Amino acid sequence: MPTKRTRAHDPAQEGGKTCPPALLLDEDDNVPADILDLGSAIWRGDTEAFLSSLPLEPLFDLVVTSPPYNIGKAYEKKEELAKYLAWQERIIDLIVPRLKDSGSICWQVGNFVDNGQIIPLDIEFAPIFKKHGLQLRNRIIWHFGHGLHNKKRFSGRYEVVMWYTKSDSYHFDLDPVRIPSKYPGKRHFKGPKKGQVSGNPLGKNPEDVWDIPNVKSNHPEKTTHPCQFPVGLIERIVLSMTKPGALVFDPFSGVASSGVATLIHGRRFWGCELNISYAEAGLSRLSDASSGNAKYRPHDQPLYDHTKSTLSKRPVEVGPATVAKKSKRGAEK
Ligand SMILES: C[S@@+](CC[C@H](N)C(=O)[O-])C[C@H]1O[C@@H](n2cnc3c(N)ncnc32)[C@H](O)[C@@H]1O
Repeated sequence: MPTKRTRAHDPAQEGGKTCPPALLLDEDDNVPADILDLGSAIWRGDTEAFLSSLPLEPLFDLVVTSPPYNIGKAYEKKEELAKYLAWQERIIDLIVPRLKDSGSICWQVGNFVDNGQIIPLDIEFAPIFKKHGLQLRNRIIWHFGHGLHNKKRFSGRYEVVMWYTKSDSYHFDLDPVRIPSKYPGKRHFKGPKKGQVSGNPLGKNPEDVWDIPNVKSNHPEKTTHPCQFPVGLIERIVLSMTKPGALVFDPFSGVASSGVATLIHGRRFWGCELNISYAEAGLSRLSDASSGNAKYRPHDQPLYDHTKSTLSKRPVEVGPATVAKKSKRGAEK
């Protein structure tokens, strides 16, 4: 069966190369023969089938994804942990030979939860990446402000991005992702540079704990997908780990948040997504990104100051926090 192909209307000029985002649909899971010539594309189908039909050669500059976590979301079937990990391992085995020597893999995961007990997935994934000799550069903590309120443990408010490189000669550029320094006015107080500004004028290293709001209902990036990651999270990764024109691949692309981060910065994107409505929503977002119309929250936008909201004031009938606690303790005696 021929591949049905939908192209977006606004091709982007990226480093002199035209990259019209495309949605590739094929009921027989055939990857088109000209895939290597495509600019940016979402393949609607199974990621293992897609990867298996690519040539066995280094293609990707960056692989960034948030795989299903096996927690029973609408788009996944909860399986035994060992079976889930064996499936993920098969996919990683197909990715590593297709990653360039200068390339990076960022696997973003949370916890598998079993009967109220948490199993951090980054710990479970580590032996798979180690088997391939990949080098762990950072375990980035993505901290966010909203989620479920647990009663029997502290509420979970972070997930992890495991950043691996294939070799020591990996691409990494801090300058595009520097954030404002705490004390930009600080000066050397002795030595030959005495009196000169001591910090980098471009700002400081954003460090490995990133405070980026998760995509909830009032977020500008919200779509129908239940677990989108924020564009800003991937933007920081794309800007620091790739050069313009690089090929970024997301094997579980959902609504293509990683594609948006990639296209707004002049890189190429390939994604794989099983669900047709997520794949179509992803194509529309890629189209907006390539024509400069993406709605997104940049990685360096300061956090909303919740104390400015009228909702942050305690209602008079509740009283000051200390009084409320004391009277509760009194009642317990
Ligand atoms: C955690 S979500 C990723 C969301 C994505 N990061 C975003 O921002 O939209 C995982 C996605 O993987 C897709 N998926 C699950 N199994 C797949 C498979 N075998 N091949 C391709 N996609 C798959 C699901 O439909 C789901 O959209």
